[in-house]
Amino acid sequence: MRRTEGLLASVILALALAAEAAEPVLPDVAATPAERTFIERHWRGSIPPQGAPPARFSPIERSLQPEACGACHPVQLGDWQTSLHARSMGPGVMGQLVEMRRREPATARSCARCHAPVAEQRPELLEANRVVTNPDFDVTLESRGIICASCHLRGREHFGPPRRDGSTDSRVSRERLPHGGVTRTGAFLRAEFCASCHQFGSEGLAFNGKPLENTFSEWRRSPAARRGWQCQHCHMPDRRHLWRGIHDPEMVRGGLDIVLRAGRERYRAGEAARATLVITTPRVGHAFPTYVTPQVRVKAELRDAAGQVVAGSVEERVIGRQVPLDLSREIADTRIPPGGRFTLAYSRRVDGPGWRLYVTITVLPDEFYTRFFEVLLTSVAGAGEADIRRALEATRRSPYTLYEKELPLS
Ligand code: HEC
Ligand code: HEC
Ligand code: HEC
Ligand code: HEC
Ligand code: HEC
Repeated sequence: MRRTEGLLASVILALALAAEAAEPVLPDVAATPAERTFIERHWRGSIPPQGAPPARFSPIERSLQPEACGACHPVQLGDWQTSLHARSMGPGVMGQLVEMRRREPATARSCARCHAPVAEQRPELLEANRVVTNPDFDVTLESRGIICASCHLRGREHFGPPRRDGSTDSRVSRERLPHGGVTRTGAFLRAEFCASCHQFGSEGLAFNGKPLENTFSEWRRSPAARRGWQCQHCHMPDRRHLWRGIHDPEMVRGGLDIVLRAGRERYRAGEAARATLVITTPRVGHAFPTYVTPQVRVKAELRDAAGQVVAGSVEERVIGRQVPLDLSREIADTRIPPGGRFTLAYSRRVDGPGWRLYVTITVLPDEFYTRFFEVLLTSVAGAGEADIRRALEATRRSPYTLYEKELPLS
């Protein structure tokens, strides 16, 4: 019990240290200097309280609730509600915070930067290194996760991308527009905009020279980046606010090419049949998958004419970056790097007609968290137990079959 407690504390601490040290990694190319300056300022440290709204703002313009924005921006609200950004304060995070706030308050505070970054979502604020009660805390906002204001509001000013025609200026006096109009900047179209939460900086936790969260760096060296495809190109196509990723089978299928081929059309009994499975990731903009938390399992087996699995014919591979729960090291990194490929060369003797190779690819989007929540429940879940249990159940429901194919061999 005590040992596990220590182990978990160190997991959480490691996460927190890494996160606090994280600075956006800025490339030499892509974003203009002005856009980079904007992004650095926009995402520097914790987002400060928005302050008093301008007197002319109506109640709906004052509200930070996503539904208030949605009254005038219904498409973005509808999309966002289905996204993981809207669920970033789900039971997996909230359940841990219950005990963490008592035992390790500083660590608990560090999660907000990425999971609920707006000041009005935090019960406490840091002022000159002192913890003070936040007078603007709104408990109904806290659980809403990465709300619209996280990306679009600073000090009550609204920020957004240029219009689709590229223009940024206001056609009428901003005074006359809802929420005083919008400050438009190309920074919203850049991959760097996403980096502050999806990339650890050089001080953060890293194994074998690769930060635990390394999506932006992977992207920067990817064929997708060379084509000018920013994160938004794939994750916000047509400016949609869906942010589909590894949890969405269609998104994952859309990113990959999977080819299964036999060496030749048919083999005779007694011959060694050959087949090759090749997975490439031409429409993924980083390693597949990018995080340590998912796992992709490839399984190939021979089935005889009666459909029975042939003994000793099963071959399994894992595609993923495997780490132990205490995040002390990297066990293996078998992810497909950007521009790379996964190959499984299969060869077995076939002993009769009607034999075939059966291949499945299964995705476990939350494999790490299933293990993590299981251990939490046996140790430090405490008052967060009910939430952690719900989160664990959700991770057990998330696996899906990405690909399934039977290839006749004889
Ligand atoms: C009362 C209606 C109303 C509400 C409430 C509202 N907006 Fe807007 N918003 C508008 C209008 C109208 C524009 C277009 C302004 C212009 O043409 O410059 C706009 C523009 C924007 C833009 C620029 C992109 C675009 O479509 O031109 C962003 C981003 C934005 N709003 C975000 C928000 C967020 C975030 C909230 C909630 C905190 C919010 N808005 C609340 C009416 C509203
Ligand atoms: C630098 C940004 C960052 C910080 C800081 C951060 N996280 Fe996360 N977290 C992420 C990202 C990105 C994901 C999604 C990818 C993944 O699963 O690894 C995530 C996923 C999770 C998940 C799984 C999804 C879910 O909602 O159940 C949990 C649980 C979680 N984080 C807990 C925490 C806790 C607790 C802290 C504070 C100790 C924390 N995180 C700090 C970025 C962060
Ligand atoms: C994680 C950051 C993030 C969050 C959260 C977010 N947005 Fe956005 N939003 C963006 C980015 C980035 C763009 C520009 C995307 C592009 O052009 O590819 C954008 C674009 C927009 C636009 C312009 C759309 C257009 O067609 O020109 C509006 C309006 C908007 N967001 C409103 C909202 C509202 C309302 C919410 C909450 C329901 C919200 N956003 C939540 C990042 C965010
Ligand atoms: C304020 C921090 C923050 C910002 C900014 C942010 N994200 Fe996220 N993102 C997260 C967290 C935290 C999660 C995990 C939510 C969860 O599951 O609890 C996440 C989840 C995701 C996922 C879903 C991953 C999956 O497991 O399927 C995608 C895709 C994604 N983000 C893309 C983006 C893109 C693209 C941008 C930039 C436009 C962006 N994010 C900006 C914090 C952020
Ligand atoms: C060329 C298209 C493309 C680009 C560019 C791209 N992604 Fe992805 N992304 C995908 C696809 C497809 C998936 C689903 C497969 C996977 O998980 O790798 C994905 C998955 C994800 C996930 C799910 C978690 C995981 O472990 O895979 C996150 C988070 C994410 N992307 C964030 C980003 C961020 C941040 C950027 C920019 C720095 C970015 N992506 C750039 C296509 C892209």
